[in-house]
Amino acid sequence: MEGDVLGKKSVKGKVQVPGDKSISHRAAIFGAMAVGKTVIHGYLTGEDCLHTLSCLEALGVQIDRQEKTVIINGTGWKNLREPKTVLDVGNSGTTMRLLLGVLAAQPFYTVLSGDKSLNERPMRRVSIPLTEMGARFDGRENGNKAPLSVRGNALRPITYQSPVASAQVKSAILLAGLQTEGVTTVVEPVASRDHTERMIEAFGGSIDTNGTRHSVKGRQKLIGTEIVVPGDFSSAAFLIAAALVTENSVLTIENVGINPTRTGMLTILKQMGANIELFNQRELNREPVCDILVRSSALKGTVIEGAVIPRLIDEIPILALIASQAEGRTVIKDAGELKVKETNRIQTVVSELKKLGVDIEATDDGMIIEGDPDKVLSGGVVNAYGDHRMAMMLMVASLISADPLVILEAESAAVSFPGFDRLLSAITRD
Ligand code: S3P
Repeated sequence: MEGDVLGKKSVKGKVQVPGDKSISHRAAIFGAMAVGKTVIHGYLTGEDCLHTLSCLEALGVQIDRQEKTVIINGTGWKNLREPKTVLDVGNSGTTMRLLLGVLAAQPFYTVLSGDKSLNERPMRRVSIPLTEMGARFDGRENGNKAPLSVRGNALRPITYQSPVASAQVKSAILLAGLQTEGVTTVVEPVASRDHTERMIEAFGGSIDTNGTRHSVKGRQKLIGTEIVVPGDFSSAAFLIAAALVTENSVLTIENVGINPTRTGMLTILKQMGANIELFNQRELNREPVCDILVRSSALKGTVIEGAVIPRLIDEIPILALIASQAEGRTVIKDAGELKVKETNRIQTVVSELKKLGVDIEATDDGMIIEGDPDKVLSGGVVNAYGDHRMAMMLMVASLISADPLVILEAESAAVSFPGFDRLLSAITRD
């Protein structure tokens, strides 16, 4: 895929982004575990969420995929069946880790595998607590990497102090706990995204949350419901960036989820001086939503560290590009989790932005960027390494590149934002 754009551009218009990836995965999984029909409007048809649907189908769940809605005929926790083949989760860490939580309590054997990137990502972070609850796992590298097998069991409840701030780990334990007699508790070091907690309540279940400590009672009956999936803030982030770093841009993005556990980027952009307004705030099945108006902005560098990191972890590639256009230095710390995303994003962000002439250095837990508002990036050949967020970040970079940019493995954008390249061209003006 090529983006051959010259000089600084503008972006203008009113757009919507596809449905939230995290909420779509959870709506499908909870819909399958609930009793009765769940109708999901605005389900993300990116590759990751399609993998979740096909895995659930292989587990015996009946799903009716329509053009704008997905209907799940849930039959409760007890009616899943042993799949006859290996479950393919593609590139999706969320699919694998959340399903491991479901399967840990199912009385059968499942093997899960994914693509080259997924099969290099650490899974022991979920199999350790789920093994403590009584499930059995095996896999490559002593059970850490897929292909991974799980033999489910009647589980015992645990209280687990997670060493990582990961919503996937938290959600896997809660999904196992919901099927286990007694009270299961997970404590996080720092708050991660809370869509699972909100979704449990949307399906008529209950969860006790006290700070970063979450407890669920087992054997809860969840009831099928109607879910309207808001636009994904993590997808909107690339369009926000496109408007900020180009000249004379005015862009409205409608219907974007602004769950505070996801919008750390807004906090940081405000600190950097970004001209962003949120309006039309409302709620969709317990998730806050609004429209966002962004204009080209003069930005200054900042420090991004500590508790805000899990609230913007997926936005760090695009924040690094934004920082390259800000006055002064931006330091990103406490973000070691970037190393175990779809690529090692400390490595890939730094190597590809360097190729475009950005003054950026990797550190052990983040990166340091020396920004320059007058910086026009160079063009050339860059690689997204099959990482959707790298692909979209580099497509936005092409708007401020002097020479054509050739982005290898950019088709990966379809993992979370099918048609991103077309949408970006449609709003770009010379
Ligand atoms: C996600 C959680 C985050 C995030 C990922 C989606 C989720 O990962 O990076 O894109 O839907 O729970 P971790 O839980 O590993 O931090």
